Amino acid sequence: MTCLRSVVVGCGSALPARCVTNAALAETVDTSDEWIVQRTGIRQRYLSDASETTSVLGTRAAKAALDDAGLTAADIDLVICATSTPDHTFPATATQIQAGLGMTGGVAFDLQAVCAGFVYAVTTADKFLVTGAARRALVVGAETFSRLLDWEDRTTCVLFGDGAGAVVLEARAGEGTSADRGVLTSSLRSDGRHREKLYVDGGPGSTGTTGHLRMTGKEVFRFAVGSVTDVIDDAFRASGTTADDLDWFVPHQANRRIIEASADKLGIARDKVVLTVDRHGNTSAASIPLALDVARKDGRIKDGDLVMIEAIGGGFTWGAALIRW
Ligand code: ACO
Repeated sequence: MTCLRSVVVGCGSALPARCVTNAALAETVDTSDEWIVQRTGIRQRYLSDASETTSVLGTRAAKAALDDAGLTAADIDLVICATSTPDHTFPATATQIQAGLGMTGGVAFDLQAVCAGFVYAVTTADKFLVTGAARRALVVGAETFSRLLDWEDRTTCVLFGDGAGAVVLEARAGEGTSADRGVLTSSLRSDGRHREKLYVDGGPGSTGTTGHLRMTGKEVFRFAVGSVTDVIDDAFRASGTTADDLDWFVPHQANRRIIEASADKLGIARDKVVLTVDRHGNTSAASIPLALDVARKDGRIKDGDLVMIEAIGGGFTWGAALIRW
Protein backbone atom coordinates (compact mmCIF):
# COMPACT_ATOMS: atom_id res chain seq x y z
CA MET A 1 0.00 0.00 0.00
CA THR A 2 1.25 3.48 -0.83
CA CYS A 3 -1.81 5.54 0.08
CA LEU A 4 -5.36 5.52 1.35
CA ARG A 5 -8.25 6.01 -1.07
CA SER A 6 -11.89 6.92 -0.34
CA VAL A 7 -13.81 4.14 -2.07
CA VAL A 8 -17.56 4.34 -2.76
CA VAL A 9 -19.05 1.23 -1.15
CA GLY A 10 -22.75 2.16 -1.28
CA CYS A 11 -25.24 4.72 -2.52
CA GLY A 12 -28.89 5.53 -1.97
CA SER A 13 -31.50 8.19 -2.54
CA ALA A 14 -34.90 9.44 -1.45
CA LEU A 15 -37.61 11.51 -3.13
CA PRO A 16 -40.77 13.13 -1.79
CA ALA A 17 -44.00 11.26 -2.54
CA ARG A 18 -45.53 14.03 -4.71
CA CYS A 19 -44.40 14.21 -8.32
CA VAL A 20 -45.44 17.41 -10.14
CA THR A 21 -45.34 17.43 -13.93
CA ASN A 22 -44.82 20.58 -15.97
CA ALA A 23 -48.47 20.39 -17.04
CA ALA A 24 -49.60 20.28 -13.40
CA LEU A 25 -47.36 23.24 -12.59
CA ALA A 26 -48.81 25.19 -15.51
CA GLU A 27 -52.20 25.08 -13.78
CA THR A 28 -50.94 27.51 -11.13
CA VAL A 29 -47.90 29.18 -12.77
CA ASP A 30 -47.94 31.12 -16.07
CA THR A 31 -45.76 28.62 -17.95
CA SER A 32 -46.02 25.62 -20.27
CA ASP A 33 -44.57 22.15 -20.62
CA GLU A 34 -43.16 23.18 -24.00
CA TRP A 35 -41.26 26.21 -22.60
CA ILE A 36 -39.79 24.30 -19.65
CA VAL A 37 -38.73 21.27 -21.71
CA GLN A 38 -37.22 23.34 -24.49
CA ARG A 39 -35.22 25.69 -22.20
CA THR A 40 -34.22 23.22 -19.45
CA GLY A 41 -35.04 19.59 -20.30
CA ILE A 42 -37.10 19.33 -17.08
CA ARG A 43 -40.36 17.34 -17.38
CA GLN A 44 -41.27 16.84 -13.72
CA ARG A 45 -39.95 17.38 -10.20
CA TYR A 46 -40.77 16.05 -6.72
CA LEU A 47 -42.03 18.53 -4.14
CA SER A 48 -42.00 17.74 -0.43
CA ASP A 49 -44.88 18.14 1.99
CA ALA A 50 -44.40 19.64 5.45
CA SER A 51 -43.35 16.31 6.95
CA GLU A 52 -40.72 15.63 4.29
CA THR A 53 -38.00 17.90 5.62
CA THR A 54 -34.39 17.94 4.45
CA SER A 55 -33.30 15.78 7.40
CA VAL A 56 -36.12 13.29 6.79
CA LEU A 57 -35.17 12.91 3.12
CA GLY A 58 -31.47 12.87 4.01
CA THR A 59 -31.96 10.17 6.63
CA ARG A 60 -33.90 8.00 4.15
CA ALA A 61 -31.14 8.38 1.56
CA ALA A 62 -28.45 7.66 4.16
CA LYS A 63 -30.24 4.49 5.31
CA ALA A 64 -30.53 3.32 1.71
CA ALA A 65 -26.82 3.94 1.15
CA LEU A 66 -25.92 2.00 4.31
CA ASP A 67 -28.15 -0.92 3.20
CA ASP A 68 -26.52 -0.86 -0.23
CA ALA A 69 -23.08 -1.00 1.45
CA GLY A 70 -24.17 -3.80 3.81
CA LEU A 71 -23.21 -1.59 6.76
CA THR A 72 -24.94 -0.14 9.81
CA ALA A 73 -24.76 3.30 11.39
CA ALA A 74 -22.28 1.91 13.95
CA ASP A 75 -19.77 1.46 11.11
CA ILE A 76 -19.77 5.20 10.26
CA ASP A 77 -17.61 7.81 12.00
CA LEU A 78 -18.25 10.86 9.80
CA VAL A 79 -21.48 12.34 8.41
CA ILE A 80 -21.36 15.37 6.13
CA CYS A 81 -24.62 16.80 4.82
CA ALA A 82 -24.41 19.24 1.91
CA THR A 83 -27.48 21.45 2.05
CA SER A 84 -28.66 25.03 1.67
CA THR A 85 -32.09 24.17 3.04
CA PRO A 86 -31.46 22.91 6.60
CA ASP A 87 -34.50 22.05 8.71
CA HIS A 88 -33.39 24.77 11.14
CA THR A 89 -30.70 27.43 11.20
CA PHE A 90 -29.10 25.13 13.75
CA PRO A 91 -28.42 22.39 14.77
CA ALA A 92 -26.84 21.03 11.63
CA THR A 93 -29.07 18.79 9.52
CA ALA A 94 -26.21 16.26 9.58
CA THR A 95 -26.70 15.84 13.33
CA GLN A 96 -30.42 15.22 12.76
CA ILE A 97 -29.50 12.57 10.19
CA GLN A 98 -27.03 11.13 12.69
CA ALA A 99 -29.80 10.91 15.29
CA GLY A 100 -32.22 9.46 12.73
CA LEU A 101 -29.72 6.70 12.01
CA GLY A 102 -29.27 5.96 15.72
CA MET A 103 -25.62 7.07 15.72
CA THR A 104 -24.25 8.50 18.94
CA GLY A 105 -20.57 8.57 18.02
CA GLY A 106 -18.45 10.10 15.30
CA VAL A 107 -18.64 13.58 13.80
CA ALA A 108 -21.49 15.18 11.87
CA PHE A 109 -21.67 18.61 10.28
CA ASP A 110 -23.30 20.50 7.39
CA LEU A 111 -21.51 21.98 4.43
CA GLN A 112 -22.98 24.86 2.44
CA ALA A 113 -21.80 25.37 -1.13
CA VAL A 114 -25.27 25.41 -2.71
CA CYS A 115 -25.43 23.30 -5.89
CA ALA A 116 -21.70 22.51 -5.62
CA GLY A 117 -22.24 21.21 -2.08
CA PHE A 118 -22.01 17.50 -2.85
CA VAL A 119 -18.68 17.87 -4.70
CA TYR A 120 -17.36 19.99 -1.81
CA ALA A 121 -18.62 17.38 0.70
CA VAL A 122 -17.04 14.43 -1.15
CA THR A 123 -13.77 16.38 -1.31
CA THR A 124 -13.95 17.20 2.41
CA ALA A 125 -14.79 13.62 3.42
CA ASP A 126 -11.92 12.40 1.23
CA LYS A 127 -9.49 14.59 3.19
CA PHE A 128 -10.70 13.02 6.46
CA LEU A 129 -10.38 9.48 5.10
CA VAL A 130 -7.01 9.72 3.36
CA THR A 131 -5.42 11.28 6.44
CA GLY A 132 -6.82 8.58 8.73
CA ALA A 133 -9.01 11.08 10.62
CA ALA A 134 -12.07 8.93 9.82
CA ARG A 135 -12.59 5.42 8.44
CA ARG A 136 -16.06 5.50 6.88
CA ALA A 137 -18.07 8.54 5.85
CA LEU A 138 -21.67 9.09 4.88
CA VAL A 139 -21.79 11.96 2.40
CA VAL A 140 -25.32 13.23 1.94
CA GLY A 141 -26.77 15.85 -0.40
CA ALA A 142 -30.27 16.76 0.78
CA GLU A 143 -32.50 19.67 -0.19
CA THR A 144 -36.00 21.06 0.01
CA PHE A 145 -35.51 23.97 -2.40
CA SER A 146 -39.28 24.27 -2.80
CA ARG A 147 -39.21 26.09 0.57
CA LEU A 148 -36.98 28.82 -0.93
CA LEU A 149 -38.93 29.43 -4.11
CA ASP A 150 -41.03 32.44 -4.94
CA TRP A 151 -43.99 30.69 -6.56
CA GLU A 152 -44.96 33.99 -8.22
CA ASP A 153 -41.64 34.06 -10.11
CA ARG A 154 -41.96 31.77 -13.12
CA THR A 155 -38.34 32.35 -14.14
CA THR A 156 -37.13 30.36 -11.11
CA CYS A 157 -39.93 28.28 -9.56
CA VAL A 158 -40.23 25.89 -12.52
CA LEU A 159 -36.57 24.87 -12.28
CA PHE A 160 -36.20 23.24 -8.87
CA GLY A 161 -37.24 20.12 -6.98
CA ASP A 162 -36.64 18.36 -3.66
CA GLY A 163 -34.77 15.17 -2.84
CA ALA A 164 -31.72 13.57 -1.28
CA GLY A 165 -28.90 11.22 -2.21
CA ALA A 166 -26.02 9.71 -0.26
CA VAL A 167 -22.86 7.70 -0.72
CA VAL A 168 -20.77 5.74 1.78
CA LEU A 169 -17.02 6.27 1.40
CA GLU A 170 -14.59 3.83 3.01
CA ALA A 171 -10.83 4.27 3.47
CA ARG A 172 -9.04 1.47 1.64
CA ALA A 173 -5.45 0.87 0.62
CA GLY A 174 -4.44 2.02 -2.85
CA GLU A 175 -1.34 2.00 -5.00
CA GLY A 176 -1.45 5.71 -5.75
CA THR A 177 -2.26 5.23 -9.44
CA SER A 178 -5.33 6.15 -11.49
CA ALA A 179 -6.17 2.42 -11.58
CA ASP A 180 -7.04 2.56 -7.86
CA ARG A 181 -10.66 2.50 -6.79
CA GLY A 182 -11.82 5.61 -4.95
CA VAL A 183 -11.61 9.38 -5.21
CA LEU A 184 -8.56 9.91 -7.43
CA THR A 185 -8.49 13.69 -7.36
CA SER A 186 -10.71 16.72 -6.87
CA SER A 187 -10.58 20.43 -7.60
CA LEU A 188 -12.65 23.16 -5.93
CA ARG A 189 -13.02 26.88 -6.64
CA SER A 190 -15.12 29.82 -5.48
CA ASP A 191 -15.45 33.47 -6.42
CA GLY A 192 -17.69 35.57 -4.19
CA ARG A 193 -17.90 38.46 -6.65
CA HIS A 194 -20.79 36.66 -8.36
CA ARG A 195 -23.17 36.77 -5.41
CA GLU A 196 -25.85 38.88 -7.11
CA LYS A 197 -26.32 36.39 -9.95
CA LEU A 198 -27.71 33.65 -7.71
CA TYR A 199 -28.65 34.20 -4.09
CA VAL A 200 -31.40 34.09 -1.48
CA ASP A 201 -32.72 37.49 -0.41
CA GLY A 202 -33.00 36.64 3.29
CA GLY A 203 -31.26 34.90 6.15
CA PRO A 204 -30.96 34.80 9.94
CA GLY A 205 -28.20 37.44 10.03
CA SER A 206 -29.84 39.92 7.66
CA THR A 207 -33.63 39.89 7.34
CA GLY A 208 -34.35 37.31 10.00
CA THR A 209 -36.41 35.43 7.42
CA THR A 210 -35.67 32.50 5.13
CA GLY A 211 -35.97 34.60 1.96
CA HIS A 212 -36.49 33.60 -1.66
CA LEU A 213 -34.14 32.41 -4.36
CA ARG A 214 -33.20 35.09 -6.92
CA MET A 215 -31.31 34.40 -10.10
CA THR A 216 -30.15 36.06 -13.28
CA GLY A 217 -30.53 32.92 -15.38
CA LYS A 218 -28.58 34.07 -18.43
CA GLU A 219 -25.53 35.07 -16.37
CA VAL A 220 -25.53 31.74 -14.53
CA PHE A 221 -25.84 29.91 -17.83
CA ARG A 222 -22.91 31.83 -19.34
CA PHE A 223 -20.65 31.23 -16.34
CA ALA A 224 -21.62 27.54 -16.03
CA VAL A 225 -20.69 26.78 -19.62
CA GLY A 226 -17.85 29.27 -19.99
CA SER A 227 -15.83 28.84 -16.82
CA VAL A 228 -16.62 25.65 -14.97
CA THR A 229 -14.68 23.33 -17.22
CA ASP A 230 -11.42 24.52 -15.55
CA VAL A 231 -11.93 22.20 -12.55
CA ILE A 232 -12.54 19.24 -14.86
CA ASP A 233 -9.36 19.99 -16.78
CA ASP A 234 -7.56 20.16 -13.39
CA ALA A 235 -8.89 16.70 -12.51
CA PHE A 236 -7.83 15.21 -15.84
CA ARG A 237 -4.36 16.75 -15.53
CA ALA A 238 -3.83 15.66 -11.90
CA SER A 239 -4.85 12.06 -12.65
CA GLY A 240 -3.20 11.73 -16.05
CA THR A 241 -6.55 10.84 -17.63
CA THR A 242 -8.54 12.31 -20.51
CA ALA A 243 -12.17 12.58 -21.56
CA ASP A 244 -11.72 9.35 -23.54
CA ASP A 245 -10.91 7.45 -20.32
CA LEU A 246 -14.19 8.47 -18.66
CA ASP A 247 -16.99 5.95 -18.41
CA TRP A 248 -19.55 8.39 -16.98
CA PHE A 249 -19.91 12.15 -16.60
CA VAL A 250 -22.35 12.91 -13.79
CA PRO A 251 -22.72 16.70 -13.59
CA HIS A 252 -24.99 18.79 -11.41
CA GLN A 253 -28.45 18.52 -12.93
CA ALA A 254 -29.54 22.15 -13.43
CA ASN A 255 -30.31 22.33 -17.09
CA ARG A 256 -29.95 19.95 -20.02
CA ARG A 257 -28.52 22.66 -22.27
CA ILE A 258 -25.77 23.56 -19.74
CA ILE A 259 -24.88 19.88 -19.30
CA GLU A 260 -24.68 19.13 -23.02
CA ALA A 261 -22.76 22.31 -23.84
CA SER A 262 -20.23 21.51 -21.07
CA ALA A 263 -19.82 17.90 -22.26
CA ASP A 264 -19.31 19.05 -25.85
CA LYS A 265 -16.72 21.64 -24.78
CA LEU A 266 -14.80 18.97 -22.84
CA GLY A 267 -14.99 16.40 -25.62
CA ILE A 268 -17.08 14.03 -23.51
CA ALA A 269 -19.34 11.85 -25.68
CA ARG A 270 -23.04 12.52 -25.09
CA ASP A 271 -23.71 8.81 -24.38
CA LYS A 272 -21.41 9.00 -21.35
CA VAL A 273 -23.50 11.76 -19.76
CA VAL A 274 -25.92 10.76 -16.99
CA LEU A 275 -29.01 12.98 -17.26
CA THR A 276 -31.71 13.00 -14.60
CA VAL A 277 -32.77 16.64 -14.73
CA ASP A 278 -35.79 15.56 -16.79
CA ARG A 279 -37.26 13.59 -13.88
CA HIS A 280 -35.88 15.41 -10.78
CA GLY A 281 -35.49 19.06 -11.84
CA ASN A 282 -32.66 20.92 -10.12
CA THR A 283 -32.30 19.51 -6.60
CA SER A 284 -29.15 21.53 -5.84
CA ALA A 285 -26.72 19.57 -3.62
CA ALA A 286 -28.87 16.43 -3.97
CA SER A 287 -28.75 16.27 -7.75
CA ILE A 288 -25.43 14.44 -8.20
CA PRO A 289 -25.99 11.70 -5.58
CA LEU A 290 -29.54 11.23 -6.93
CA ALA A 291 -28.09 10.82 -10.44
CA LEU A 292 -25.33 8.50 -9.21
CA ASP A 293 -27.93 6.30 -7.52
CA VAL A 294 -30.07 6.13 -10.67
CA ALA A 295 -27.09 5.19 -12.86
CA ARG A 296 -25.77 2.68 -10.33
CA LYS A 297 -29.14 0.98 -9.85
CA ASP A 298 -29.96 0.80 -13.58
CA GLY A 299 -26.62 -0.93 -14.17
CA ARG A 300 -24.78 1.84 -16.00
CA ILE A 301 -22.14 2.59 -13.32
CA LYS A 302 -20.20 -0.58 -12.54
CA ASP A 303 -17.32 -1.31 -10.16
CA GLY A 304 -14.10 -0.03 -11.71
CA ASP A 305 -15.81 2.61 -13.89
CA LEU A 306 -14.22 6.06 -14.06
CA VAL A 307 -16.80 8.70 -13.07
CA MET A 308 -16.41 12.49 -13.16
CA ILE A 309 -18.76 14.51 -10.96
CA GLU A 310 -18.94 18.28 -11.44
CA ALA A 311 -21.10 21.15 -10.20
CA ILE A 312 -21.49 24.90 -9.95
CA GLY A 313 -23.56 26.72 -7.36
CA GLY A 314 -24.29 30.11 -5.87
CA GLY A 315 -21.30 32.19 -4.79
CA PHE A 316 -20.14 31.12 -7.27
CA THR A 317 -18.75 27.85 -5.98
CA TRP A 318 -17.70 25.07 -8.32
CA GLY A 319 -15.75 21.85 -8.35
CA ALA A 320 -15.12 18.43 -9.83
CA ALA A 321 -14.03 15.06 -8.48
CA LEU A 322 -12.79 12.05 -10.40
CA ILE A 323 -13.84 8.76 -8.84
CA ARG A 324 -13.05 5.19 -9.81
CA TRP A 325 -16.16 3.34 -8.62
N1 ACO B 1 -42.48 29.88 -18.64
C1 ACO B 1 -42.75 30.56 -19.77
N2 ACO B 1 -42.06 31.64 -20.14
C2 ACO B 1 -41.04 32.03 -19.34
C3 ACO B 1 -40.71 31.35 -18.15
C4 ACO B 1 -41.50 30.23 -17.81
N3 ACO B 1 -41.26 29.51 -16.69
N4 ACO B 1 -39.68 31.97 -17.58
C5 ACO B 1 -39.34 32.99 -18.37
N5 ACO B 1 -40.16 33.03 -19.44
C6 ACO B 1 -40.14 33.97 -20.54
C7 ACO B 1 -39.51 35.27 -20.19
O1 ACO B 1 -40.43 36.14 -19.56
C8 ACO B 1 -39.09 35.79 -21.53
O2 ACO B 1 -40.19 36.34 -22.18
P1 ACO B 1 -40.02 37.67 -23.08
O3 ACO B 1 -39.09 37.29 -24.19
O4 ACO B 1 -41.42 37.94 -23.53
O5 ACO B 1 -39.45 38.70 -22.16
C9 ACO B 1 -38.69 34.52 -22.28
O6 ACO B 1 -39.32 33.43 -21.57
C10 ACO B 1 -37.21 34.27 -22.35
O7 ACO B 1 -36.66 34.42 -21.04
P2 ACO B 1 -35.15 34.24 -20.80
O8 ACO B 1 -34.83 34.51 -19.34
O9 ACO B 1 -34.38 35.01 -21.82
O10 ACO B 1 -34.96 32.70 -21.08
P3 ACO B 1 -33.63 31.89 -21.25
O11 ACO B 1 -33.55 31.35 -22.60
O12 ACO B 1 -32.44 32.62 -20.72
O13 ACO B 1 -33.92 30.67 -20.29
C11 ACO B 1 -33.33 29.84 -18.12
C12 ACO B 1 -34.10 30.89 -18.89
C13 ACO B 1 -33.91 28.50 -18.41
C14 ACO B 1 -33.46 30.15 -16.63
C15 ACO B 1 -31.86 29.91 -18.55
O14 ACO B 1 -31.35 31.21 -18.48
C16 ACO B 1 -31.02 29.01 -17.75
O15 ACO B 1 -31.11 27.81 -17.84
N6 ACO B 1 -30.09 29.55 -16.96
C17 ACO B 1 -29.26 28.76 -16.13
C18 ACO B 1 -29.69 28.92 -14.79
C19 ACO B 1 -29.91 27.64 -14.08
O16 ACO B 1 -30.07 26.57 -14.58
N7 ACO B 1 -29.90 27.81 -12.81
C20 ACO B 1 -30.16 26.76 -11.95
C21 ACO B 1 -29.74 27.17 -10.63
S1 ACO B 1 -28.09 27.50 -10.60
C22 ACO B 1 -27.33 26.14 -10.53
O17 ACO B 1 -27.89 25.11 -10.29
C23 ACO B 1 -25.95 26.23 -10.76
